[in-house]
Parts: sequence; C-alpha cells; structure tokens
Amino acid sequence: MNGVKLLLLDCSPRNDKSTSRHFTQHLLPALANLTAGEVQVTRRNLGIEPLPAITAEYAESLLLPAADAKARFGEALALSDELIEELDKADVLWISTPVHNFTVPAVLKAWIDHVVRRDVTFVATEAGKVGLLRDRPTFVAVTSGGAMFHEPPRQPDFFRPYLSTVLGVMGLKNVTFMHANGLAFSDEPLSTVEAKAAQWIGEGKFNHVSESINPLSSDISV
Ligand SMILES: Cc1cc2nc3c(=O)[nH]c(=O)nc-3n(C[C@H](O)[C@H](O)[C@H](O)COP(=O)(O)O)c2cc1C
Repeated sequence: MNGVKLLLLDCSPRNDKSTSRHFTQHLLPALANLTAGEVQVTRRNLGIEPLPAITAEYAESLLLPAADAKARFGEALALSDELIEELDKADVLWISTPVHNFTVPAVLKAWIDHVVRRDVTFVATEAGKVGLLRDRPTFVAVTSGGAMFHEPPRQPDFFRPYLSTVLGVMGLKNVTFMHANGLAFSDEPLSTVEAKAAQWIGEGKFNHVSESINPLSSDISV
C-alpha cells in the first residue's frame, strides 16, 4: 500500500505535558516504519478543539431512515457527514487518549455520537446492529493515572469494552489497545510513557498490519 492515510484523534485536554500525546509520538514511528510510502496524518485535536455536542435535530434525524433524515435535516447532518467521510477515507484509525472516570473522555464520546449513525455507519437488524464501514487497523494509545487495565482489576474497565463495542458497531473490529498506566505515581511520567511505548513496540503490536501495509520505511507528515 503506497501512502497510508491515518486519522488521528487526539483526546487529551493537555498539550505539551500530555502523557497520551507523548505516548502516541513514541508509538507512531514504529507503525510508519512498516509502510511503503508516506503516512499522511489527518489530525482531529478533539481535546483542545472539542466538537459541538449533538443537536436536537441530529437526535431526531436518527429516528428516520437515512434518505428521510437527509431530506429533513440535511444541514444538521453536515458535521456528521464530514466526520464520517474523514473516517471512511482513513486506512488506519489511531485514537490517542487518557482514561477519564473509568472510560473515554467526553470529547471522544462526542465524536462517537457524530459518527455512529443509523443507515450510514451501521444498520439495525433483528440480530442487532451491523457495521457498514470496511474494517481497518485501529489503534488505541491510552494513558491513565491509576491502575486501570491491571490484572487482577483494581479499577472497573468501562474503557476497552465500551470502545471495542462501539467501534465494532460501525464495522471496525480490528482494534489494538496499548496502555501506559499508574502515571500519577511516576516522578517522570513522560519517561515512563516512553519506556512503555518501547515495550509495546517490542511486543510486536504492529506486526499484524504488515499484511495491509508494506514493510518499508516511510516519513510521517501532518
Ligand atoms: C477528569 C479526569 C478523570 C480521570 N479519571 C481517571 C480514572 O478513572 N482512572 C485513572 O486511572 N486515571 C484517571 N485520570 C488520570 C488520567 O487518566 C491521567 O492523568 C492521564 O495520564 C492523563 O493523560 P493526558 O496527560 O494525556 O491528559 C483522570 C484524569 C482526569 C483529568
């Protein structure tokens, strides 16, 4: 595959000190090294430029079949259309995010509410919701202050089950989670994150994408 289009959702409200942004910066080059061409990154800085909450019109539109929804609420669906198109164009989805209160930050939830759309990204059947997007490698680089994702559990994990389920509803089933935890207890959280990134890379977390992305070096451009 020449030239990989990657959609990056950055969900931390923090910037320079953000552990999740730092984690992603140390993980992404390893993915880029597997690709034959350039990695073109489209970035949604959701943590710093949040999307607006969904509107009444948007919620009403979800009750209608897609064609009727478009005819009646076309303008109110414009942002959702844009976000879905952006997602659909991406070869790889990358979510860079902290844990907030045992699950995804509200800014990521807002993105989800705009893209999980009846008859557009999923259809409702008697057997449940079925995704309409083609599957693609999806990576979640997640950081937390406490002992999330610990075995045995020390905090309830509403993060991974929720995110896997809701991405799966749209057809995105190939989801890889990489986490760096306990950062509130680290004197040097950014160094801890770097070490954790190296560990995940060493564990070959990107190897499964080499079937769809050719193994040659590349540059990242944003
Ligand atoms: C509103 C809020 C809620 C949080 N909830 C949790 C939590 O439930 N579990 C946890 O381990 N850490 C929690 N944290 C800590 C963050 O996950 C942690 O500080 C993370 O490193 C922040 O990433 P960032 O620097 O990229 O924003 C919370 C932080 C905030 C601001």
